Order: sequence, then C-alpha cells, then structure tokens
Amino acid sequence: MMVDADLLIHSAAQVVTCASDVPKRGAAMQDVGLISNGAVVVKDGRILAIGPTESIRERYTAVQSINASGQVICPGFVDPHTHVVYAGDRIGEFEQRIRGATYMEIMASGGGIVSTMRATRVASVEELVAATLPRLEMMLRLGTTTAEVKTGYGLDLVSELKMLEAIAALDLAQPIDLVPTFMPAHAVPPEFNGRSAAYVDWVLNEMIPAAAEWHRRSHFVDDDRPLFCDVFCEQNAFDLAQSRRVLEAGLLHGLPAKIHADEFTSLGGVGLAVDLGAASVDHLDATTAEDVARLAASGVVGIVLPAVNFNLGSHEFTNARALIDAGAAIALSTDINPGSAPCPSQPLVLAIATRYQRLLPAEALNAATINAAFGVGLAGRVGSLAPGKQADLLLLNCTDYRQLAYQFGGNLVTTVVKNGRIL
Ligand code: NIG
Ligand code: FE
Repeated sequence: MMVDADLLIHSAAQVVTCASDVPKRGAAMQDVGLISNGAVVVKDGRILAIGPTESIRERYTAVQSINASGQVICPGFVDPHTHVVYAGDRIGEFEQRIRGATYMEIMASGGGIVSTMRATRVASVEELVAATLPRLEMMLRLGTTTAEVKTGYGLDLVSELKMLEAIAALDLAQPIDLVPTFMPAHAVPPEFNGRSAAYVDWVLNEMIPAAAEWHRRSHFVDDDRPLFCDVFCEQNAFDLAQSRRVLEAGLLHGLPAKIHADEFTSLGGVGLAVDLGAASVDHLDATTAEDVARLAASGVVGIVLPAVNFNLGSHEFTNARALIDAGAAIALSTDINPGSAPCPSQPLVLAIATRYQRLLPAEALNAATINAAFGVGLAGRVGSLAPGKQADLLLLNCTDYRQLAYQFGGNLVTTVVKNGRIL
C-alpha cells in the first residue's frame, strides 16, 4: 500500500544523511551515510523516510514531488557557536590589525568586545533585530538552518536581557532555529575595570538568576530549547576559578555549560568543561596534548572555529586532526561576530578546515551537522537526515558532496528546506 506524504525529493545524485545516535568520533567521522540516487520523504515538517529512489517511490506518493537529479541532498548546517546579535561593526579594528596590531592588543587597549558592547548598549531590541536579520538571512542562504546565539555584548543586566529579548524575537521572525546562550562573562565591562571578582559576583548573584527566570518565561522552554551559559576563560577575561564559579552558578540555575577555552592561552578550561560535563568546549587553539586526551575521553563536544584564525590572519589553527585522531567529538562553527570572525558561512569553514586542519570533506561535513547538533543539545531533532527528525535539508548544485569543501567563495546551496517547507 502506498503511503501519502507532503513532499518527495527524488533522484538526487547523492543523499548524505550524516546520521548517528551519538557524536561521531574517529573513523565514524569519515562516514556521511551516503545513498546514491537517493530520495527523501517529508510529512508534517518531519522526515518520514529516506533511501534509494526506486524503493522509496514504490512505497510513497506525495502532494509535491521534486526531481533533484544532478544535485546532492544534505542536512541543513548547524552553526553551534555564534555572536551574531550585535550593533555596529569593527572595521576600524580590522584596519588596525592590517597595520600590525593583534586582537589581544586591541582588546587590552579598550577595544574589541567592549567596543561592540558600547554600540550594543545604546541599541534597542528592534535595532538589534534589524541589524541581525540580514546576517541570519545570509547564513540561511549558505545553508545554516539551526544556530546557537550568545549574549555577551551587553555586560550589564538590562543590556544582557535586551540581547536575550532580541534572540527570542529573531527566533520567531525568521526560519533559522536559534538556541540561546547567556554570556555575561564575555568581558569585564569598563565600570568594573580592575574589579573582575566583583563583576563575577554580580554575574552570579543578579544576572544568572534573572536569565534563568527569563528563560522559564520564554517560548524556548515550550520548545524544549535550553538556555546555555558560557564564559570566556582567557587572560584579560576570566581566569579558571572565575570561569568555574560562573558555570557552576549556571548549572545550579538549570543552564547547561559551554566554555570559550584555549583561544590564545591554555588556562585549564578543557579540564573544567570535562569536570562539569559541559555541552561543548570551544576554540581549542592552545590546547595541550594532555587536554586533547582528556577531551577525547569525555562526552564534551570540541567546537573548532577556523574562521577566527583565518580572519586574524594567523598561520596557526586548532589541531583538529589530532583531536579527531585522539577520538574527540569535533564540531565546526563560524563563530560569526564583529571582531574575530565576521563570517556567516559554514561552507567557508569547511573549506578552511579541509585545507589548514587536514579534515577530509566527510569529517568536516559531519562536524558542521550532526556533531554540531550534539554541541547544542539538539541532536534529537536536527543535524542529520533520519526518520522523525525535522526536515531541514539542503539541495546542492553538484553531484558529489565533497564539492562543498572543495569549492569555496561561492554558494552551492540552491534550495533550503526548513521544517519541510521549501524556502
Ligand atoms: O569567540 N573570544 C571571545 N569571543 C569571540 C570574539 C568576540 C568579539 O571579538 O567580539 C570569539 O572569538
Ligand atoms: Fe565566541
């Protein structure tokens, strides 16, 4: 008997599912779950079936059929680490870096995150939404269908809550599913200059409880989407003990942990992430061999952000090859933000990771889909093509998925399907 569905996309040169019930590690990273001449069936916004075109067409009919011959179907990208909500830009700092200043020098002299904080504090929710919408639209065109989004440019209670409001409004205003992260410990704000301990106290006593309360009242709760808590564990930001205090307070209030660790300096953030059972530990540039082993032996996803190194003109990248070879679960992300990575493109991240970090195209694709979904706690619904999951998928103008990493600077995404809807 034929089963009726809403949408049937058939005759794709390849369907790559990236399916896995656990974060992919080691050799599994090289398996994208490839089906030649494949088809995907969608009903009520979810994937109903997936398989070779012939056997799918024997069993399913649909209101709408699409012939995807000459194209590849892959999961929509999950971008698991973004600071996409902000006001203003940092083009002046870009020029300063071209002239020789470093990111850390600019930050130490009162620029960097704090300069975006100034612009963000004076922006309204509506202005933040209007500034961010075009960036999200660009990400969507480039194939991102789920993105984590951090606060951290408010750095006071009112402004951090304003950023959460903007994230909630943006989630409802456009197709990409957003996962909010509270990050008041992104930098020490100027009014607490030289008093980081006092700022951390304020974060613990006032800001985290208020954010947890905000989350409980937000629509994210109804959709089972968490509010993560993140901290920048770095010289001139927050030290290891302060980072632990912030993340433990978050956990106490029901906010699962994430951490920016080892971007420039190894302060022990990996060990902290493992200790606390964090969802992810992000950056990992300066990570020691011992911490690579520690991460590999844990359930924490390592999020690697090579667009940052590229943007900062660095010749050194996270040793993602060593992380994968050691058995760590690795994800890739743009880190889109106005300072260290004004980059909306997961495909560009794949292009960099394959060249400078020696990931195979398959490893990079799994890292930007299923493992990224694990990194934001949403692997039960996005990140791969499997029955029951959200029908978030891409049609690519190529016949080999490896083209996604092989080509760069263009856009192979011809069609984005979000929750079964063709955009
Ligand atoms: O992930 N390192 C801290 N946070 C961001 C940079 C944010 C900014 O420069 O505005 C990052 O690289
Ligand atoms: Fe970041």
